Parts: sequence; C-alpha cells; structure tokens
Amino acid sequence: MTNERIRVENVVKLFGDNAATGLALLTSGKGKDEIHDETGAVLGLDNVSFSVNEGEILVVMGLSGSGKSTMLRCINRLIDPTSGSIKVDGTEVTTLNHRDLLEFRRAKFGMVFQHFALFPNRTIAENVEYGLEVQGVSRTERRNRALSAIELVGLKGWDSRYPSQLSGGMQQRAGLARALAVDADILLMDEAFSALDPLIRREMQDELVALQRKMKKTIVFVSHDLDEAIHLGGRIVLMKDGRIVQQGYPEEILTNPQGDYVRRFVENIDVSSVITLGRLALRDPPGLLRSASARDVFPQLGNRKTDIYIVTCDRNMPVGRITRDALAGSSDGAPIDRLMQSGVATAKASDVLKTALPRLASEPGGIAIVDDDGRYVGIVTQAMALRALAGTAGAIDTPDESGDASWTGQFPNSPSTDTATTPSPGSQPTFRM
Ligand SMILES: Nc1ncnc2c1ncn2[C@@H]1O[C@H](COP(=O)(O)OP(=O)(O)OP(=O)(O)O)[C@@H](O)[C@H]1O
Ligand SMILES: [Mg+2]
Repeated sequence: MTNERIRVENVVKLFGDNAATGLALLTSGKGKDEIHDETGAVLGLDNVSFSVNEGEILVVMGLSGSGKSTMLRCINRLIDPTSGSIKVDGTEVTTLNHRDLLEFRRAKFGMVFQHFALFPNRTIAENVEYGLEVQGVSRTERRNRALSAIELVGLKGWDSRYPSQLSGGMQQRAGLARALAVDADILLMDEAFSALDPLIRREMQDELVALQRKMKKTIVFVSHDLDEAIHLGGRIVLMKDGRIVQQGYPEEILTNPQGDYVRRFVENIDVSSVITLGRLALRDPPGLLRSASARDVFPQLGNRKTDIYIVTCDRNMPVGRITRDALAGSSDGAPIDRLMQSGVATAKASDVLKTALPRLASEPGGIAIVDDDGRYVGIVTQAMALRALAGTAGAIDTPDESGDASWTGQFPNSPSTDTATTPSPGSQPTFRM
C-alpha cells in the first residue's frame, strides 16, 4: 500500500482584498481575467488537486506565473489558500491555528528556495544549525546534526567558512544541508537549483535523488525546466494559469502530451535521451527460473503472448532466453535450461534508451533490463523502443505481442522500487496491455 503524505484537493487561491467575491465569480464559471477586471483579485490557483506519496519526488512544473510557488507555499501555509483542502499526514493544514501551524511546519517541512538566503555573518555550520536553534535544540546536538548534514551534501571541512567564501553551488548545498538538518521528512523546494550553472545543477539533481533514496524523503520540487523534472524522475504536475493541465510520469507526458501547452513543453525533448530503459521496460512477464520445468512455468504465462522469455538463475540474474514455442512444445518436468539459448543481451534500467539502440537493433527478441545489481527487472523490445521514439500514445505500455492482461507499471525512483516485480495495484499508473 502506498503511503500518501500530502493530499491537495480543489485548492483555490485568490490574491487581493476581494478574494471572497472573486471566489463566488470563479464558482459561477468566470475566468482569471474577468475576475481580475471585476474585483481586482488575482487568481493564483484554480481548483488544484494532486497527491504526493511517501518517498516520492513530485515536480510541479509550468511557465512563469503558472502558480507553482503559490502551490508549494500553500502546502506549509506560507500562503493561505482561499478554499480547498490540504492534508499532510492526515492533518488538515488549512484549519490549523497559528501556534499549531508553526509547530507543524517545524516538525514536517524543510524548505529550500532558489535564493538560498544564507546569513552572511554566520559560518556554514551556524547557518545549517539555524532551524535547530529555532527549535531550541541544545548547542552540542545541533552542532552534531549540522555537521552530519554538511557531510551529507559533500561540504565536509567547510563548516567554519562563511557563505562568501563558497561558490554558488556550494552555497546551494549549504541551503540543502540546512533543510536536511532539521530532519523534516518532507522537503519543499522552490527552483532550488535554478541559480546554478548547468553542470553543478545536474550534480545537485543527482545528489538530491541519491539523498532521497537513502533518506526516504518526500519531496515537492518546483521547476520550470522539463529536463530537470525528467532527471529527478518522479511524477510531474504541469501547471498553466493556476490549473493543472496534465500530471503523470515523464514518459506519459512525453509520449502523450495533452493539449498545445504541454506539447510545446515537450517538443524539443529528445525522447531517446531522457526515457530510461527501466521506465520503458515491460515488467511482466517475469523471469523464468532456469531450474523450473516447462510444466510448472507454462501456467504462469497465462495469456501473455510475449514470444521470448528471459531465463534467470536463482539470484534473478538473466542467463538465457527461451521462446514461447519451445516452452509450448515441452510440457515435461525437466529443467527449462536445456531448452534455452544461453546468454542474453542486457542493459541497465538506469541507462537511457539512446545508449541501448545499437544493441536493440541486433536483438529482435528484445533485451533484458537489469537493476544496478544485475537482477532482471523486465524486457524492452524493438517495438516498444520504436513506439517510444515515434512519440505515440501508449508507447510505454506493452509490445504488440502481448495479450490482454493488465499490467501495473513500476518505475525506478518510485517508492515501490524494491518491489518492482510485485506490482501493487493502485499505487502506480496502470496501463492496459
Ligand atoms: N502576493 C501576490 N499578490 C498578487 N498576485 C500574486 C501574488 N503572488 C503571486 N501572484 C500571482 O499569482 C500567479 C502565480 O504566481 P506564482 O508566483 O505562484 O507563479 P510561479 O509559477 O511560481 O512563477 P515563477 O516561475 O515566475 O516563479 C501569478 O499570476 C502571480 O502574479
Ligand atoms: Mg515561483
């Protein structure tokens, strides 16, 4: 079961003194411009709903003025929404009184802004300690916690320097350390890496993903950069004029953009260099254990019509391939490894499609996708790759050969990565075969 941390429902934000009148106009179907003309109120958010699961990086994306920062700030109520509900771990944030809100904010959230706002007259350690100081944590404990956060973001040894002695990228790391030190497990990050040059920015993105995996943080990350959103790897909520125009995993948005606005966002993205094999892989059928017999294995195949199956050893490493015909022609109890073709082309789930294209071209049956430890996670066929490249809807579902069973997608970076071979219905988008 997926653990939902944040649920945002029908949130509206109108800025200005006439918010109530504006809300009535909005309810009666008036748009942003009309509301502004009639009341002076600015519609920042227009019925926004989404949720964030534990251990997920959700990226809120959109052009300037689309409402990203407003949305993020409503979550910890730095901005009060005009109407709607925001639940964090089941607590309705919109109705908390001032004191409870401060406490709740401290306990749950770390926040990182684009302009990291380090105090210039404090050392890095003192800056990182700031949140703990506010919480009244003792001097020794806060120093220890600050030093481990500083180490975590790769700034070990820089704790007694001042911000001006650090590069922009290092200051950004210090900002991140400050958010991590308070040990809040929900991080709200607003254009946190936008001020960094591209190389350092990519490095920070990688580091954030690594940190998130290690520390199981739940992250809401605002960005106007699709490339960044894709690289962070979680779901994307795409906003326009205060509304969500599409939400889903990058590959869903890339291959099935809804409307011109989304299409314009994705048109310059080279799908093959962003979609990873792990995302593309068909997670079902499972690897077939080499010591199993055709008699045992056949019933497991159900009505899947994949032509080739990957055979694995008992540690789930691919060791060969076997055709469906070979299995069908042998219903005895002998191990299937005598029927398999030894050796199988593999590629890592974290590799992008582009790098695997040459290999895929010479492997008509597809290649086995493995995780970092070499364990089988799924198969990518030529048909799947072609459909992804063509940018056609449904490119990431299943190969033509498949039957009519439903498959529940599982993706790297999602909270259920560890259980990639045992999909949990409801927690992930479902594609039909
Ligand atoms: N305090 C405010 N008073 C009035 N209008 C506001 C206020 N804050 C935001 N807005 C308006 O709300 C809308 C959404 O703004 P928001 O700052 O959330 O956009 P954004 O997507 O974060 O943009 P950017 O990428 O430029 O940071 C805009 O039309 C903006 O002008
Ligand atoms: Mg903003």
